[in-house]
Amino acid sequence: MDKKIISTYIKYIFFLFIIFNTNINSFAEQLDKHSSLSGGKTTRNDITSNAFSKPAKNLPIKYRQIFSEGNRLFKVEWGTNPNQKFYGLGPTFIQSSCINCHIKDGRSLPPEINEKGIGGLSIFLNNYYIDEENYGKKIDTRAINNVQVEGKINVDYEIISGNFSDGTPYKLLKPKFIIEKSNFGKLRNRIHGRVATSIIGMGLIETIPEELIFQWSDPYDNDKDGISGRPNIIYDPIVKKKLVGRFGWKASKSSIKHQVVSALHEDIGITTNFFPKNRCPKLQFNCKKELVNKSIEANDYIVDTISFYTSVIAVPARRDINNELIKNGRNLFISIGCAKCHIPNVKTGKNPNLQFAFLNNQYIQPFTDLLLHDMGEELAEYSKEGIANGKEWRTAPLWGLGLIQRVNGKIRLLHDGRARSIKEAILWHGGEAKNSRDKFLLMKKNKRKLLLKFLKSL
Ligand code: HEC
Ligand code: HEC
Repeated sequence: MDKKIISTYIKYIFFLFIIFNTNINSFAEQLDKHSSLSGGKTTRNDITSNAFSKPAKNLPIKYRQIFSEGNRLFKVEWGTNPNQKFYGLGPTFIQSSCINCHIKDGRSLPPEINEKGIGGLSIFLNNYYIDEENYGKKIDTRAINNVQVEGKINVDYEIISGNFSDGTPYKLLKPKFIIEKSNFGKLRNRIHGRVATSIIGMGLIETIPEELIFQWSDPYDNDKDGISGRPNIIYDPIVKKKLVGRFGWKASKSSIKHQVVSALHEDIGITTNFFPKNRCPKLQFNCKKELVNKSIEANDYIVDTISFYTSVIAVPARRDINNELIKNGRNLFISIGCAKCHIPNVKTGKNPNLQFAFLNNQYIQPFTDLLLHDMGEELAEYSKEGIANGKEWRTAPLWGLGLIQRVNGKIRLLHDGRARSIKEAILWHGGEAKNSRDKFLLMKKNKRKLLLKFLKSL
């Protein structure tokens, strides 16, 4: 063939490719094509309560050792005894190990109605307008001996009732965060709670090409579909420049390592080379006095090993994907606009870290665009994280959704765990997702069932 024919041929194929890709049905077709392997070749067929703790199926054997070591470090209880290997906890902190929040590498749970305290929540300050110098970003409800905790918080729930269009009633719980005590002066800001997420597929999320995230974004809603996601942009202390945020409920961390060093510092009170100073605000006198470990508490080896572990956890396979009811549910998911934000099919690119070559070029189904979306006033919490405003949240990945109950024993969804079921989580969607939510409200009961059946297969 001569060059001209070949080039026309290529253009034709490219043209077909574009048509295929802009067709909404392509979501469905691709979901079928890549079947149940939500995490590409990392996927594991595990539906036990350990479904969120397994190494990637394609983890090279040479890395098994570092995976187990990372697993151990994820579970280490940091203490205060200088004779221990892992010491330097606090002085104020939220929990003393990663696993205490990420239960079974899954989620933490908010307190039940009438339960005192904060359960597995982390309490964030809504410091969008004013910084809270005496406290920092979160309220530490625990502290080592002789040091005062920052505060005492309780959660109350308001019950909100409503009806589907067919008359079926529902009840939602809206949490209210009550400051029982603030030990270093009155808080000028309100506060909100967040649950820990599961850590499946983190490395795959990190390997999604940045260009793709920008392609999905549509900050001025040029396509006029009512959805205008934008990426968060944040300063990454590891590479010392601004990057697209990917992790956390507001996409406020750009890399897994960034998330890990922040967790060590902010949640457990452990210093690293990236955050070498203990968090002791001026007013917290005893905090400085009681510091036991004045050197770096988690060295680079610890940080890297935990980061490795956190990057390579398998995504569990989908179940029952050939069931016709589930396929119908999938079509509803697409037709009422859920897939516009919860993007099902993504191909990973190239992870900058050569160790993670096995995460490259994977066809995955994370069900997220990693973008920030205005989710309306009901979910709004004004904390300062990158460029995210109060109403904006990152589209939560939905892979593993159907196994949360099994891993956690309960299902609590959304950033503060307010939703007690998938149905409730959808009902809280507002802002850019209001259209989809309203279509859900209009659905007949049997259709709602199909949609939920599909979501439970993830
Ligand atoms: C006090 C509870 C708590 C502890 C302890 C904790 N985390 Fe988290 N973790 C959270 C919360 C809450 C979030 C969501 C943060 C946000 O919204 O910014 C999170 C988010 C994450 C994420 C991002 C998940 C995602 O879907 O984007 C990773 C990864 C992670 N944590 C790893 C760790 C590691 C590793 C440790 C131990 C060094 C740790 N965490 C300790 C509560 C905790
Ligand atoms: C405009 C974008 C957008 C659309 C459209 C959308 N969502 Fe979401 N979804 C989000 C965001 C953002 C969150 C996280 C909100 C929060 O935690 O406050 C979320 C959270 C969820 C959660 C809870 C996940 C978790 O980890 O707790 C479920 C379930 C969910 N969405 C399902 C759906 C379904 C089903 C639809 C269609 C009816 C839908 N979403 C439409 C953006 C969207």
